[in-house]
Amino acid sequence: MSWTQDQSSFDHIAGVSLIAGNGGMPAVRVSRGALKGELYLHGGHVTSWKPPHAEEVLFLSEHAVWNYTKAIRGGVPICFPWFGPKSDQPAAPQHGFARTREWTLERITEEAGGVRIDVSDRSDERSREFWRFDYALTHRVAFGDTLKMELVVQNAGKEPFLFEEAQHSYFRIGNVQEVAIDELHNRYFLDKTDGKTKKQHGKITLQGETDRIYFDTADNISIIDTVLRRCITISRKNSRSAVIWNPWIEKARALSDLGNDEWQKMVCIETCNIRNKVVRLSPGESHVMGTEISVKSI
Ligand code: BG6
Repeated sequence: MSWTQDQSSFDHIAGVSLIAGNGGMPAVRVSRGALKGELYLHGGHVTSWKPPHAEEVLFLSEHAVWNYTKAIRGGVPICFPWFGPKSDQPAAPQHGFARTREWTLERITEEAGGVRIDVSDRSDERSREFWRFDYALTHRVAFGDTLKMELVVQNAGKEPFLFEEAQHSYFRIGNVQEVAIDELHNRYFLDKTDGKTKKQHGKITLQGETDRIYFDTADNISIIDTVLRRCITISRKNSRSAVIWNPWIEKARALSDLGNDEWQKMVCIETCNIRNKVVRLSPGESHVMGTEISVKSI
């Protein structure tokens, strides 16, 4: 377990505790009246956010695996430094290694009616087995009326590098066949379920397996959920691509860490910079990509 901050240094911050979470894995729990949140050091991974005025917003699989070998299925996994399979090394972990590394708790502070938790991860011998560059990652997560997450990537080495990144958010919804995704209509995407064919659609609803990469994206994307009677808005910063994913029936059955029917209650809308939107950083430079999630009743 890697805490750089002694619990006593944030004892004055009400409603925050360091816990042994599922599988005994270290996590930070926020519980302040009706505001709840949880972040695991495994992957620097947010697994829960319940704003004061609404029910849980993030989907978390009942079959998620709580050990150090696998990414947690649900919440907000972080994909870095590549997305999907690594093109020149098929045996390397899918979506990069950041989501299965043990991050360090840097600090916990009060922020605008909520709590901000900063966690970090730095390159080491194990990361260099797959990617030779030196990096420093920080995930700044503020739980409050909104959930604000900023992923800071710094080039801590002596040569430039290119990377891909994603905040792979899983949203909890009433029924995937009843939601509409707003603000992406008529924009081009690559359909990964159809040989990466370039397509365009008007109103976006999900009626089958969905795995799309949008390159011409909007800053704000909304999920209109008429079953849970709420609208989730995802405001994105410095993100030039987006992914929409739902495995549907067959693919869900093939995922051992997702229940057979759970695909109906989730949709992933991912803030990312991937494929032709990779980011280049020179030594010493940093890049910040952010997602801010808000919810309102409809
Ligand atoms: C999405 C990808 O981002 O993540 C999909 O576009 C992939 O192709 C999905 O299946 C889940 O990936 P994983 O590695 O978490 O099972």
